[in-house]
Amino acid sequence: MSTAPPNDAKGVNRGVAPVTESRGVNRGVAPVTESRGVNRGVAPVTYGTGNRPPRGDYGRARSDYTCEQDHARYTAADHDTYRRLHARQLQQLPGLACEAFITAVEHLGPPDQIPRFDAVSEKLMRATGWQIVSVPGLIPEEAFFALLAERRFPVTDWIRKPEEFDYVVEPDVFHDLFGHVPLLFVPAFADYMQAYGAGGLKASRLDACELLARLYWYTVEFGLIDTPQGLRAYGAGILSSAGELRHSVRSGEPRRVGFDLQRIMRSRYRIDSYQAGYFVIDSFDQLFEATAPDFTPVYQAVRERITREGEIEAGAVLSGEREFSPLA
Ligand code: PHE
Ligand code: FE
Repeated sequence: MSTAPPNDAKGVNRGVAPVTESRGVNRGVAPVTESRGVNRGVAPVTYGTGNRPPRGDYGRARSDYTCEQDHARYTAADHDTYRRLHARQLQQLPGLACEAFITAVEHLGPPDQIPRFDAVSEKLMRATGWQIVSVPGLIPEEAFFALLAERRFPVTDWIRKPEEFDYVVEPDVFHDLFGHVPLLFVPAFADYMQAYGAGGLKASRLDACELLARLYWYTVEFGLIDTPQGLRAYGAGILSSAGELRHSVRSGEPRRVGFDLQRIMRSRYRIDSYQAGYFVIDSFDQLFEATAPDFTPVYQAVRERITREGEIEAGAVLSGEREFSPLA
């Protein structure tokens, strides 16, 4: 990977895996490495050049990378980890998470155990036509895009070990489910996610996944929204993190500017610490509409601008940009 390998990642919990800036896309999906012969099924996925073996058991996966959740395999300790993570996050949400998320988190069901994906899917299907599907862990970006384009959200089925309570290097069931699934109950956001998947398949053909990944990072994972009550978080990386929720909304340290598609595509991001900069949307409708046009000329324009002016460092604010103040 072009930046810090997972082992070097700082112990700051964002509840989300490090992703390579150069190749990582979306939820931390990394390129497929050569099979090490441990899995008979689909090839396992690891991060960039890291030599840590993949965490999940890819031998169980179908060719589209989905697998059975096997709920009976979770131990009492696994359920307890989920319950404690859920409790820690839930009590922090008021005043920091967007209202739509707080309302929708209820749909995950009672937090006393790791939810059954089928039960959540049933509700989600009725609400927005989305389903969640179980995966062994990180999956290749094309497989990920294909699932999103079909309104199927991949959720990692394993949960972190108790000693990883504050920091886990790959997304686990808590990040994927608690962080990502609630907003799939919100129609405009649900439509955005599907459009992102379809756009990802196109970006793969245009060799533009790196630019598109930045959009995912700064919206789906680390997005903020300006509401009548003030700034709130909607990104899954923030909402599943013990510390970043407060940092992103209330700290005076990071910089916050308004959502701007091309600006985001020119902006680098941090994978090993809290974000230095965030982008703020006005509404999910704005997000959907701003990303609806064909990105083919957008990628071209962004590439040209990067060639002329370079990329923008994480946390930079350019002259003329309006900054959002942290929530008082
Ligand atoms: N409109 C984008 C395209 O043509 C697709 C997209 C939508 C990408 C939403 C990301 C988010 O590529
Ligand atoms: Fe994620």
